[in-house]
Amino acid sequence: MSDQYRVDYLVLGSGIAGLWFALGVADYGQVAIITKKETAESNTNYAQGGIAGVWDKNDSIESHVHDTLVAGAGLCDEDVVREVVSEGPREIQALMDLGASFTKSEGKLHLGREAGHAHARILHASDTTGREVERVLMEKILAHPNITVFDFHYAVDLITEHHLGQHVTRLRPDISCYGAYVLDEKNETVYTFLARVTLLATGGSCAVYRHTTNPSIATGDGVAMAYRAKARIANMEFVQFHPTALYQGKVYEGREFLVSEAVRGHGGILLNRSGEAFMKQYDSRAELAPRDIVARAIDDQLKHRGEDHVFLDVSHLDAAETEQAFPYIVRTCREVGIDPTAEPIPVVPAAHYQCGGVQTDSMARTSITGLLAAGEVAYTGLHGANRLASNSLLEALVFSRKAINSAPKIAAERSFNEAVPDWDSSGTAQQREWVLISHNRKELQRTMWSYVGIVRSDLRLSRALRRTKLLYEEVEEFYGRTRISSRLCELRNLIAVAYLVIRSAQMRRESRGLHYTLDYPEQVAVERRPSLV
Ligand code: FAD
Ligand code: SIN
Repeated sequence: MSDQYRVDYLVLGSGIAGLWFALGVADYGQVAIITKKETAESNTNYAQGGIAGVWDKNDSIESHVHDTLVAGAGLCDEDVVREVVSEGPREIQALMDLGASFTKSEGKLHLGREAGHAHARILHASDTTGREVERVLMEKILAHPNITVFDFHYAVDLITEHHLGQHVTRLRPDISCYGAYVLDEKNETVYTFLARVTLLATGGSCAVYRHTTNPSIATGDGVAMAYRAKARIANMEFVQFHPTALYQGKVYEGREFLVSEAVRGHGGILLNRSGEAFMKQYDSRAELAPRDIVARAIDDQLKHRGEDHVFLDVSHLDAAETEQAFPYIVRTCREVGIDPTAEPIPVVPAAHYQCGGVQTDSMARTSITGLLAAGEVAYTGLHGANRLASNSLLEALVFSRKAINSAPKIAAERSFNEAVPDWDSSGTAQQREWVLISHNRKELQRTMWSYVGIVRSDLRLSRALRRTKLLYEEVEEFYGRTRISSRLCELRNLIAVAYLVIRSAQMRRESRGLHYTLDYPEQVAVERRPSLV
């Protein structure tokens, strides 16, 4: 029996981008959603602050556009920014029409304030916005007759001409995507999913760093698959570090608990361990400066003072109001012995968001025919060199809508490719050396944290590249003789992401937005362009 499925629309990922798209195209054909863990496990599920949108009559599209452009440090595509900001409120309204319940105050939607925004414009569901978004979307998805969800299924590779035995070089402009090879984790079988249109919605890659706010699913599988398929990838050097992850006084591998930027918007102040509010030394906007500036200021304080964390203090604010605004954050801090209403919260920066990704046009099409991309995996031009807070969920909604608008026409023009072979696992065997995988993953995460972090230099980057190449050689050799598994594929993908971040960082000979290097500390006009791989 051939291990094959055929669907009109194949969706890789079940975060906001994948689910929004799936609901939209389900009116036009059969949809399969592939997701590697439980369906809700995604960056989306952990989003706290909310979704940015112009809602207040005193706010304006121009103001949101301006704030996004300022944060993006000259690298945003202004047309894209204007489209996303203008079309965003309609998508947010559609999400609410589906049943998403956002926090209200005195009968009106409550708008939060976050750094870099000139107005309060963040719609949110208390401090667990992502959970509410996943809840409402999953409810609709599970009830839809045209959508099938394949959880614990891992997308291994996009199917392109390469799998038809053709030699694809980087220079070929006419690559097509025919679907994906997908590993069913439970029965260890690789299935061929043939599709007319495939949407890449696999999220980000911050698990490539030792300290990250992201759950462990964020291994950059989509970027790595697209890179192997020879899609155009852009701006991978721009990794956003969130300034305030909870510091727990121990070496902690995995997801760090985020203390939302909304806490600073609410009046939280950053203090060093001598109790000094230091942000004004770095930027007149102090705690409300864009994230890159705040994260670099904290990094500077830590390095100069030889300390391992700073504090975020809200103990001077009304305790009942803090508890009401941030119930999840207050509860989680108390669980680890810190009461934010009475004492400052120890915090450190952690890798948070991938600003670059698979390049799309304004209709969510990648450089590969039949392959669309939306959400954190995509580089659309919105964020430039630094993402403005809460613009990510917004971008995912707007670009998934663009993908919904593009997909039926593309699907109508394409048929299933009958020549695609089943997955070939001959010559591979079960491996017992799993310890090598976990050691290599940790080694890679430490390398990226130490040498490709908030502050970079040529020396640090070349050191990181050498170590990554060594890991690449070891893992490719292991991959060639080992039965496929998601752990091994993730490691391979993380190495590809590390390579893309390092090489893009080496190519950018200036400091701009999130990319800061000691060797080129100034912004340079000729470097004002996306870095393409
Ligand atoms: P995700 O939500 O990450 O979903 C990716 C999906 O792809 C997952 O289901 C994953 O399992 C699946 N997947 C990945 N690889 C594979 C594979 N190989 N095979 C099968 N499935 C795969 N942004 C905001 O705008 N506002 C906020 O308040 C906010 N808060 C945040 C708080 C935290 C702690 C974090 C981590 C991020 C936050 N962000 C926020 C960023 C935002 O949540 C994400 O950028 C956004 O949710 C990404 O959505 P997505 O659909 O692209 O990807
Ligand atoms: C936060 O709540 O601080 C995260 C917001 C974001 O990443 O946009």
